[in-house]
Amino acid sequence: MRCESRSGSGTLQIQRLTPRMSPEDKVVVRPAIRIAGSVRPPGDKSISHRYAMLAALAPGRTRLQNFASGADCASTVACVAALGCQVQREADRVEIEGLGPQLHAPAAALDCGNSGSTMRMLAGIVAAQPFACEMIGDASLNQRPMARVIAPLTKMGARIKAAQGERPPLRIQGRQLKGIEYELPVASAQVKSCLLFAGLLAEGRTTVIEPARTRDHGELALRAFGAEIQTETKTRGSASIVGGQPLHAVEAAIPGDISSAAFFLCAAAVLPGSNLIVDEVLLNPTRAQLLDVLTQMGARVSVLNIEDRHGEVTGTLQIEAGMLRGARISGALTAALIDELPVLAAIAPFTERGVEIRDARELRVKESDRIAAVAQNLRRMGAGVEELLDGLIIPGGQQLHGAELESAGDHRIVMAFAIAALAAEGESVICGADAARISFPEFFEMLERVSER
Ligand code: S3P
Repeated sequence: MRCESRSGSGTLQIQRLTPRMSPEDKVVVRPAIRIAGSVRPPGDKSISHRYAMLAALAPGRTRLQNFASGADCASTVACVAALGCQVQREADRVEIEGLGPQLHAPAAALDCGNSGSTMRMLAGIVAAQPFACEMIGDASLNQRPMARVIAPLTKMGARIKAAQGERPPLRIQGRQLKGIEYELPVASAQVKSCLLFAGLLAEGRTTVIEPARTRDHGELALRAFGAEIQTETKTRGSASIVGGQPLHAVEAAIPGDISSAAFFLCAAAVLPGSNLIVDEVLLNPTRAQLLDVLTQMGARVSVLNIEDRHGEVTGTLQIEAGMLRGARISGALTAALIDELPVLAAIAPFTERGVEIRDARELRVKESDRIAAVAQNLRRMGAGVEELLDGLIIPGGQQLHGAELESAGDHRIVMAFAIAALAAEGESVICGADAARISFPEFFEMLERVSER
């Protein structure tokens, strides 16, 4: 999947050769001297998915502002509509007329597109419905492991068949589920939310115990929609819900996505003289560890104001570049930073001592094998990098050159390497760059606006 470098006239160019994601889509990125100004990231993807799903189960009209703009959350909204809910969408405003716990049988397969979150979390709701349905996705989603939801949902009484062993498409025969106590073998917030949503619709109590603390948006969203949920966060973290609780519709503004903001935060941290404001961004402590890591590395980060939105902390950030030292990321920190690891790896060569990432095997089963994709692109830019089964060792003090880079069809790889390309010498071409639309369609325009050359 190589594409030829066509660097063009000099400004950052977006060449959409086909309307959908395709290896022919390419973007030329020129180096920048610094990042300056302000950005407002799109609504948080994780929260948008969960609010749209719970809105379907909450009788009445849920009104959401700043709903995530990417294709992934559009897949969730389309599935909710296919399950019988009336949906109105105008730009970032989404209104969903909830049906209550019982949804309607869809006329066709539920298309989850590229979105693992849609398939895994919605499976918990669909498995409790009195009908059968199929869940399908694109070629990337068809490669992603689903045993992690099939096994516990089967314990709850669901009947699920995966077409290719443990991979999608899924054929789900819904029925009355029973609550279980379940210890997650892998730290996964998607699986935790799947089981809590199934637990809401099941008989009795469902308890999910996690090996490392993961994002708690499922728990906070259930509370926002009126459910009672018990959580324990002192040790490993667990959440427990009694089934049969009614939900109510909500009005909410979704905080900005910190995983999308991460690309700008890392660019501002690494390019000397940068000074960036990030408006209305999610600061939930289970998602904001990147701020601690960048601060420990040497960037200057301040929080300008803080607001509570249905339990989700939101604020405005200011970040200024510093001499970045380096970092070692392992264990629980790896789980907490899972979506930010590609961009941290992409700026690692520019740090003083480099970055070591361990315990990150999960990166191999994301939208692409992110460990392999990061290592391949760093090498193309001339960096030394050691690829491990569960991580990467990237020495610091390296100067990278522009190169032809590959998206691997993965939105976070595209955006991570756009940032590496800003800090490199000479132009880079990112092939398959249209994948950014999965979580952040505005990314390249926003990046161009704050890049100084
Ligand atoms: C997500 C959880 C993470 C993350 C994904 C979104 C969520 O996946 O990588 O982008 O919204 O719960 P896992 O639960 O598979 O770790």
